[in-house]
Amino acid sequence: MTPTSRWRAQRTADGSFTLISAEHGEACHSFSGAWLQARERYARPCRLRERAASGERTLRLLDIGTGLGLNLAAALAELDGTGAFLDVLSLEIDPEVVRSALELALEDAELARALAPVRVALRDALANGGGAFSLGANGRVRVVFGDARRTLVDAVEPATFDAVFLDPFSQKVAPDLWTEEFLAAVAARMGERSLLSTYSASLRVRRALRSAGLAVGVGPRVGTKSAGTLAGRGFDLPPFDARTARKVARKLLPGPNPDPRAESERPFS
Ligand SMILES: C[S@@+](CC[C@H](N)C(=O)[O-])C[C@H]1O[C@@H](n2cnc3c(N)ncnc32)[C@H](O)[C@@H]1O
Repeated sequence: MTPTSRWRAQRTADGSFTLISAEHGEACHSFSGAWLQARERYARPCRLRERAASGERTLRLLDIGTGLGLNLAAALAELDGTGAFLDVLSLEIDPEVVRSALELALEDAELARALAPVRVALRDALANGGGAFSLGANGRVRVVFGDARRTLVDAVEPATFDAVFLDPFSQKVAPDLWTEEFLAAVAARMGERSLLSTYSASLRVRRALRSAGLAVGVGPRVGTKSAGTLAGRGFDLPPFDARTARKVARKLLPGPNPDPRAESERPFS
């Protein structure tokens, strides 16, 4: 890590590293395991492997917040051996986080293997200010640097995605990527069979996804973290308990976020 880096490395409980932003002190992953979170919060709940096995030959993924590329690597690993092709649009505002990630040690053999093609692509993306790069024989990624609110709109291809990893910083430090407007823009790019996963369990986020026309359900618990949210079309989702379901079904109210959990969703734990 260069001494001037705005990102500080931190080992998490499964041995993999995350990065902490010096700007606001928030980590890119849960301290209970960065690699664990990538696999269990994002790649598995979007059912990539199962969908490949049932005949979906290309899976188009929208990866919001490239960060260390761990979610991307987890998606590739899920599809390993299935023969399905992973076509990714990955959006990141800060090239510095990617640069810092490329300097991190990789001690775990499985993670090193999964991340190898991602690192090659991210190195090329940094050198070229973004662009489309191979992820080995079974994937490619287009990395776009800039604010996802704008870059998502500008990236007209693909028109729709089969999966979305919604992994920005918390509402407290990155409110722009949790607005109704942005969530509706994301939902509008989800196809007829599409799944979104996020760590957020905010009532307001769940309502906004529902108002945008998606079915909404409960995401898995990962490590020490509470359940997140799944949203999508064309899939049955794990249901909320009756009380949460009633709250989610209520109309979205205008004004500031009334959900107290939203402010503390990303503790370093
Ligand atoms: C929680 S980290 C993502 C971790 C990543 N998914 C991974 O697998 O390592 C959030 C990322 O969102 C990026 N980000 C923050 N605001 C953004 C914006 N407006 N547009 C695009 N990316 C943004 C941050 O720079 C950071 O890399």
